[in-house]
Amino acid sequence: MVSPQLSQLPVPLAALGEGPCWDPAEGALYWTDIPAHRVHRLAADGTHTSWDAGQPVGAIVLRAGGGLVLAAKDGFWTLDPATGELALLAHAEPDVPENRMNDGACDRAGRFFAGTMAEDESPGAGTLYRLGTDHEVAPVLGGVSISNGIGWSLDESRMYYVDSPTLGIDVFDYDAGSGTIGNRRVFAAVGGGAIPDGLAVDADGCVWVALWGGAAVSRYGPDGRLRQTLEIPADNVTCCAFGGPDLGTLYITTAAGPGRCAGALFACRPGPAGLPANPFRG
Ligand code: BGC
Ligand code: CA
Repeated sequence: MVSPQLSQLPVPLAALGEGPCWDPAEGALYWTDIPAHRVHRLAADGTHTSWDAGQPVGAIVLRAGGGLVLAAKDGFWTLDPATGELALLAHAEPDVPENRMNDGACDRAGRFFAGTMAEDESPGAGTLYRLGTDHEVAPVLGGVSISNGIGWSLDESRMYYVDSPTLGIDVFDYDAGSGTIGNRRVFAAVGGGAIPDGLAVDADGCVWVALWGGAAVSRYGPDGRLRQTLEIPADNVTCCAFGGPDLGTLYITTAAGPGRCAGALFACRPGPAGLPANPFRG
């Protein structure tokens, strides 16, 4: 059965929808369609707007000083939605044209973590990077295949991380003072032939993970046990993020593929509420 209260939002279908990001000041949702090179916004009044980023964009975060920061193919860019102006903050892998950035998120201190993947999904070709508030880019994890969802435990002592072909969610010890990770281990294996993709941590510290090829979003407790599954009428579910005025709406992006609503953007009210997304503080 499809999840109760799931609604498909009235926006264009995406080839590879990703990176949902709620802006509480505007009451708007941003997301991206990676191969279309577009950043999309659904405003509080229902107006849909999109911008040409000129290259693939894998993730979007808010910037504390206003506007957006994009994890784009060749690095980190700012986008001013008021003017459409794009500006380079920092390159990530200018010497690796086979790669693009994929998913990303900021910690509470406002460091932007985002990772790369080879466009042809070559194993181990990607790297997870940390963009500091000083705009310095540092590699934090090499040998990544499809760098995907990132999030933190409520006390930020742990960082959740998905490298999709591992078929699980991993967890690192996280040092919030320095933004460094260590002691990687498996948090949860998703099973059922699904591929874990983007993730969101809710106000109870539970981890929601989008299941590519799994037509679902699953919620895991902080202990790594499966607690809830939302069925989605699109096989390739890519990412999820909480939003809405009470942060009780889960926005879900999908990609082309099997399923009658492939590529659609969905919203639902799963019960638990989310946390505000951390902005980039640089
Ligand atoms: C990537 C896709 C990939 C999918 C499943 C997404 O985040 O953007 O290219 O196929 O994850 O691993
Ligand atoms: Ca993703």
